[in-house]
Amino acid sequence: MSTIEMLNTKFGIAGVVQVVAGLGGLAAVRVETGEAQGLVYLHGGHVAEWRPKGQDEVLWVSQKSYWADGKPVRGGVPVCFPWFGPKADDKAAPGHGFVRLMPWTLEAVTQEDEGVTVVLSTKSDDQTRKQWPGEYVLRHRVTIGRELVMSLELTNTGREAMAYQEALHTYFTVADVKRVKLTGLEGVKYVDKMDGSKVKTQEGAVTITAETDRVYVGTTGTVTIEDPDKMRRIVVAKEGSTNTVVWNPWVAKSKAMADFGDEEWPGMICVETCNVGADAVKVAAGETVKMVQRVGVVRM
Ligand code: BG6
Repeated sequence: MSTIEMLNTKFGIAGVVQVVAGLGGLAAVRVETGEAQGLVYLHGGHVAEWRPKGQDEVLWVSQKSYWADGKPVRGGVPVCFPWFGPKADDKAAPGHGFVRLMPWTLEAVTQEDEGVTVVLSTKSDDQTRKQWPGEYVLRHRVTIGRELVMSLELTNTGREAMAYQEALHTYFTVADVKRVKLTGLEGVKYVDKMDGSKVKTQEGAVTITAETDRVYVGTTGTVTIEDPDKMRRIVVAKEGSTNTVVWNPWVAKSKAMADFGDEEWPGMICVETCNVGADAVKVAAGETVKMVQRVGVVRM
């Protein structure tokens, strides 16, 4: 029996959950209930698809994405940990940390009223210790239902306190990013990575008119993506997170990325639930801390 067949025997639920070979032959959990469909890869603990009943796909994935061990997926919900962006003391280390590059362990699949929950985990070992000293178990609980709920839970299994950065780097599908408005960040300060990391204050709704790479700080509120052409609002609520990153690569950056189609940028926007930079999470030995992102879709 192949590994995928064994996982399916252990975790499959007839007519609802199947462990399949996804793109690149990577193992993935396919969920189909009357309420929603979703696909969660063991690689990176990566949610790649979520479609509540009656809606188009909500998550965006590049046609040019890699699907291979050791490579990040371009789209869906990359889990960034234990650092965000380039590693401060080692520019050669992988961007956004290493857990998005690794296979995770499938721990459990359960079905409840609110949907199907897939639990994946990854933990420190000799390989991770070469890159980062923390001792941890990182668990990702993903519920595929009318809402997509992702709970990223870190347990410090070491003897010392530690600090880490994290992001649920969510790529959303939009009809045309130039016509989309983000609400919920009005009056919030942000670090503008496109303007020498100057700190600015958001005036009114966020609109995308050029390459955009911003870290909103001190914000715990819900962000709504208003998409007039798809006639829907994507509502992104969160807990345990004080930063929201908004990213769209626009023209030149898209062309510069090998795993991003040159013409794909109008169809996506990243709204990332995260704790990054100076807002890294501090966790005592033995403690568990969680960050939750809850996504819903409302018709306009
Ligand atoms: C965003 C960062 O979260 O991710 C950007 O703010 C970065 O600076 C983008 O370019 C994509 O990162 P990566 O490593 O997946 O290409």
